[in-house]
Amino acid sequence: MKAAVLHRTGDLQSLDSNLAVEETKEPDAEDGRAIVRVEYASLNRRDVYIAQGLYSKIKLPVIPGSDCSGLVYSVPDGTSEFKPGDEVIIDPSIQWGDSPSHQSARYSILGMPMNGTFAEFVSADLKNLHLKPSHLSHREASAIPLAGVTAYRALFTRGRLSGGENILITGIGGGVAALAMQFALSAGANVFVTSGNDEKLRKAVELGAKGGALYTTDGWENEIREMCGGRMDIVLDSAGGDSFAQLPEIVSYGGRIVLYGASLGPAHRVNLHRFFWKQLDVLGSTMGSPDDFANMLKFVEERKIVPVIDSEYRLSDITSAYRKMNDNRQFGKIVVMCR
Ligand SMILES: NC(=O)c1ccc[n+]([C@@H]2O[C@H](COP(=O)([O-])OP(=O)(O)OC[C@H]3O[C@@H](n4cnc5c(N)ncnc54)[C@H](OP(=O)(O)O)[C@@H]3O)[C@@H](O)[C@H]2O)c1
Repeated sequence: MKAAVLHRTGDLQSLDSNLAVEETKEPDAEDGRAIVRVEYASLNRRDVYIAQGLYSKIKLPVIPGSDCSGLVYSVPDGTSEFKPGDEVIIDPSIQWGDSPSHQSARYSILGMPMNGTFAEFVSADLKNLHLKPSHLSHREASAIPLAGVTAYRALFTRGRLSGGENILITGIGGGVAALAMQFALSAGANVFVTSGNDEKLRKAVELGAKGGALYTTDGWENEIREMCGGRMDIVLDSAGGDSFAQLPEIVSYGGRIVLYGASLGPAHRVNLHRFFWKQLDVLGSTMGSPDDFANMLKFVEERKIVPVIDSEYRLSDITSAYRKMNDNRQFGKIVVMCR
């Protein structure tokens, strides 16, 4: 089969030689596992970090990719509710464990160390298969799994978001952020956003956001405070870094800050007094349990959510997709046609 195989890590200038689209062995049929023919896969920031060597416990060579939508190609005889030809997506969480509150020590994500979805075929535990939402094409459904479960758990399981609340979602061009905005709007929240790009702010407002500010402008936090009339119930952030210091200033007394990433690294000069004086909850969130995934999928199906797709690449041109993501040029998800 054809697959994108990561042989070495390094900066993205050497990506074309580090990540080669080549013929490789198809996954073996194993007990308890299905083989899925991948129609579309989608990219996550994790894929870029792995290619750059910025992820823990990297094992090479590996076929990256955590997300896909495709067709069941084979299942072990008579042991599955699925049959060849079923249209499925895959929960990328492996060995979440028994606790709904956190993942187990053995937890991993499809696409490293286990071979992932940037290929014509991928192997997955039968427990991780879910029927593709019928209102979505494979192209659209491939955008859902990782970003969807991350956004869902961060907003609802951890963030306890409810209708009528004001929420700030930072870096709205991001794959998780854009889907989180769609989920939050569907739940009846008033969504405010930030971005590094005016055009992305405009798109977010077109999709239903109440307003947004450029995080590259001094005083953006004051703009957001004015827009929301001084009431911000919850902030969803994955940037961290120095801009994290603004978040406890923006969020209202008794509010929540949910952090699911730290793209910009450690936060310095954070005023800790704000946390206890304003009685804030700071909540970390990562991926999601099998229940989070099932609930997310139900939410997407019932509310007919169609994820925002930024652009599509062929598997043979996957390195261009990586570069686009690395440059933050996307709004929503970047998908890769693998068939
Ligand atoms: N914990 C988890 O389970 C989990 C799951 C998924 C992702 N993540 C993490 O979450 C982060 C985003 O992932 P993703 O896949 O959504 O990535 P992505 O699609 O590449 O989005 C990254 C976005 O970050 C935004 N950004 C850059 N600088 C910013 C700043 N100073 N303030 C606010 N936003 C800023 C940009 O938004 P604009 O383009 O609008 O400027 C950019 O589009 C990554 O760190 C990733 O590792 C964690």
